Amino acid sequence: MTRDELLRLVGALDLAQKVGLLTGATVWRTRAEPAVGLREMVFSDGPAGVRGEEWDERRTSLLLPSASALGSLWDERLAGELGELLAFEALRKGVHAVLAPTLNLHRTPLGGRHFECLAEDPELAARTGTALIRGIQAHGVAATAKHYVANDSETERLTMDVRVDERTLREVYLAPFEAAVRAGVWLVMSAYNRVNGTTMTANELLAEPLKGEWGFDGAVVSDWGAVRLTAQSAAAAQDLAMPGPDGPWGAALVAAVRGGSVPEEAIDDKVLRLLTLADRVGALGSGRSIPPRAWPGGTARRLLRRAVAASTVLLRNDDLLPLDLSALSRVAVIGRHASVPRLQGGGSAGVFPPETISPLDGIRAHLQGRAEVLHAPGPDLGGQPLPLDPARCQNPLTGEPGVLLRVLTATGHELYSEHRFSGRQLEPPVALEAHTVEISALVRPATDGKWTFGVGGYGRMSLVVDGQPLVEGEFARDTDDPAVIHLDPPRRHASVWLAGGHAAHVVARRELAPDTGRAVVVTAAAPEPDPEQALAEAVEAARHADVAVVVVGTTEGGEAEGHDRTSLTLPGRQDELVSAVAAANPRTVVVVNSGGPVELPWREEGGAVLLSWFAGQEAGAGLADVLFGKAEPGGRLPTTWGAALADAPVTQTRPRDGELVYEEGLHIGYRAWLRAGLEPAYWFGHGLGYTTWSYERLRAASVSAHDGGGALAVEVRLRNTGTRPGHEVVQVYLARPDSAVDRPVRWLAGFTAVRAEPGETVTASVEVPARMLRHWDTGEGAWRTEAGGWRVLAGRSAGDLPLTATVRRSDSRP
Ligand code: BGC
Repeated sequence: MTRDELLRLVGALDLAQKVGLLTGATVWRTRAEPAVGLREMVFSDGPAGVRGEEWDERRTSLLLPSASALGSLWDERLAGELGELLAFEALRKGVHAVLAPTLNLHRTPLGGRHFECLAEDPELAARTGTALIRGIQAHGVAATAKHYVANDSETERLTMDVRVDERTLREVYLAPFEAAVRAGVWLVMSAYNRVNGTTMTANELLAEPLKGEWGFDGAVVSDWGAVRLTAQSAAAAQDLAMPGPDGPWGAALVAAVRGGSVPEEAIDDKVLRLLTLADRVGALGSGRSIPPRAWPGGTARRLLRRAVAASTVLLRNDDLLPLDLSALSRVAVIGRHASVPRLQGGGSAGVFPPETISPLDGIRAHLQGRAEVLHAPGPDLGGQPLPLDPARCQNPLTGEPGVLLRVLTATGHELYSEHRFSGRQLEPPVALEAHTVEISALVRPATDGKWTFGVGGYGRMSLVVDGQPLVEGEFARDTDDPAVIHLDPPRRHASVWLAGGHAAHVVARRELAPDTGRAVVVTAAAPEPDPEQALAEAVEAARHADVAVVVVGTTEGGEAEGHDRTSLTLPGRQDELVSAVAAANPRTVVVVNSGGPVELPWREEGGAVLLSWFAGQEAGAGLADVLFGKAEPGGRLPTTWGAALADAPVTQTRPRDGELVYEEGLHIGYRAWLRAGLEPAYWFGHGLGYTTWSYERLRAASVSAHDGGGALAVEVRLRNTGTRPGHEVVQVYLARPDSAVDRPVRWLAGFTAVRAEPGETVTASVEVPARMLRHWDTGEGAWRTEAGGWRVLAGRSAGDLPLTATVRRSDSRP
C-alpha cells in the first residue's frame, strides 16, 4: 500500500482504537483491527531458530549454529541462506516477525549473551547481520535488529545505565544498527537498559539518529516488558509495547494524549509504522496472509551441516588434521560433550530441535565399518544437573519414556494431564481453577548410589522421591528479569540414596501464584563414577587409539541470558582431562564446545584445536566433515581469544551504582589488545584451513567515493602454497598513525573470501567503504574524513598482516 493509503487507514481510527494497537494482544501477538483490515501479527524468537508461539518441546524448530558461529563465517552469502531458512521456519510456524538478529557486540568475553551476538567488530557484525536480515526479509518475514543499543552485557540489564561517549556510540555500538536500517530492516527492538541516563524505550536515540538521520521507516518494538513509563516512552519514538495484553500504555496513554502530555500525531506515527509493518508481512487488507512453506527439497539439514563446517575455527594444527581415514583403525572420542554437547545457549533464544547429532554420533556415522570408536566420558563436569529427558525416565502412568505433567486444583483434583518429553516445563497448560503444576517420573538406577534431584521455580514448591520429601518451601522471587523468572528460575537440589534396579518415583510440585512465572523444572543427576577412574579410563582409551578427539565445553546455564559469566575456566576437570589425554596420545584433536571464549591452558598440547561453538542440531555431522576432510574448517574468529581472563583488557560487566561506564571508548576487542600492547592467544580474524597461503602483493588506490560506496580499491594477491584446494578469508585493516583524533591502532575495513587450487595464485578485491575512513566529529555532529595518508594492511587476522601500503586522500573527497 502507498503511504497515503496507510495514512487514510490511520485516519479512520479513533484515539482509543489507535492506542489499543500499540500494546500486544498476547505475549507474542499484536492486535487485530478489523475496521482497517489489520490482522494479528505473530512475533517469535530468534536468533538460532524460530520457536513459534509456544514454549513446548513437542513443537520443534530447526536449530542453527548460534550467532557467534555465524559471526565466524565471514561469508554473507551463507549467512543470507541461513536467514532464508529462518524465514521458511517462520512461515511454517505462522510467524510474521523473527526477533533476530542480535546486533550488540562482544564488548567483553564475560557477556552472558555473547553466544547470541555476532562479533566484537562493528563492521563484521554489520555485514553478517545485514546478510541475515536480507535473507529473512526476502520471503516477506520481518527481521528485528536488537537490542538497540548498548545491551552488551546482562548484569542489571533491566536498569543499567551505560555511559558511553557519542563518538564511540556512533562508530562502534550504533554502527551495526545503522547498517541494518540502511539494509531495510523492518523492526528494531529497543533494549531494557538505559544509555546516558535515559531508558532506551524513552531514549532520544530512537528519534535521532534512528528515525531521522537514518530514515528508519519501520516500527520500534520494545524488548519484552521494557516499556515501563507511559508518557515518556510514548512521546519518544517507541512504537509498540510488548508483550500484551496489559502494559503501561492502554487507557493511561489515551488519558495522556487527552491531557496533552503526548501529541496525537505521535500516536498516528506509531500506528502508521505498525500498519506499514503489517502491510510488509501480509497482515493487512486483502494482501496475502502468510502461506505455510517448506524449505525446498528438504535440504535444510544439509545447509545446517555445511554451516557447521563453515563456522568451525581451526586454531592450531600440527599436521594432524584432516585425519587420514586409511591410517585409522581405532579412534577414541572423549569428554562429556562428545555425547551430550551444548548445541545452543540459554534464554529466550532457545528452541527445541527435532533431532540432534552429537560429535560421537557424527564420528561414529563417519567411521561405521571403517574403524572402531571408543568412548570415554571422563570425569563429571560439576555443572547443574540437566532437566529430565526421555532417555533417563518414564511416565509413571504409561511407562513411556518421558514425564507425566498434571495440573491440579487446590484440593488436589486433576484438571488436566498429559505425557511430555522434558522435565523443564515453561508454559504448562493452566485453567482458571489451576492451583498446582506437577511433574512426575520414574527413574530407574542401574546400580546403587546417591542421586541428586532438583526442582526449579518460584513460589511454593516441593520435591518428593519415593514418598520422601527432599525439597519443600516457599521460594521468593529475587529478580524482575523475565528470562530468569520464565525460563531459568533457580533450582534447589537434594541428594538421596537409590537402590539399583528399583524404579524411584519422583514427584515435583509447584503452586501457581501471581508474579511467580509459570516455569517448573525437575532435574536429576545419576551418581558419578570415581573421577580418578574416569580420568584413567579416558587416558587409557586415548593410549590405545590412533587418534583421540576430546570434546570440552561450558555447561548448562554457564552461558545464558540474564547473567554474565564470572570465569572463563572450563568447568570441572576438563583442562586436566585434555592435558592427560594429549600426554597419552599426541595425536589428539581438542574440540571446544562453547558460545564464547574460554581459557585453553593446554592449547599447545596435542595436535590440533578446533572451536565448534554452539553449533546447532547438525553439530556432530559438520564436525565429522571437518575432522575427516570432507569439508575445510571455514571459520575465522569473530572475537579475540585471550590466554587468560586476567589478560583481557575489557571485562567490566558489573555496573557501579547503576552505571556501566564504557571507559575504553572505541577500543574494544582486538583494538583494546593492540592499544594495550598485549598478545592474546588468538587474534580476531584468526582461523586456519587445510592449506597454506603466501600473501604476495597489495595494491590500494583511492577511488571517488559515494555514500555507502567504496573509497579505496584494494587488491591482494595471494598464492595457495599447500597441497589441497583451499578457502581463505582475506582481511583488510586501516591505520592512521598520525591522526588528529583518537583512533584504534587499526580497524577492520573490509574482507572477502577466495578459493584456490594448490599452487594457484588469486587476487582478492576488497572495496573499502567510505565510512571506514570517517570518524564522528562530536563538535560538528557529522562524519568527517581526514585528508592525507592512510595505511592499508592485509592478511589473515588482526595480528597477522604481512602486506602494507599507503594511500593518500585529499579533502575534496568526503
Ligand atoms: C530478550 C529478547 C527477546 C524477548 C522475547 C527478552 O528477555 O531480551 O531478546 O526477544 O525477551 O523473548
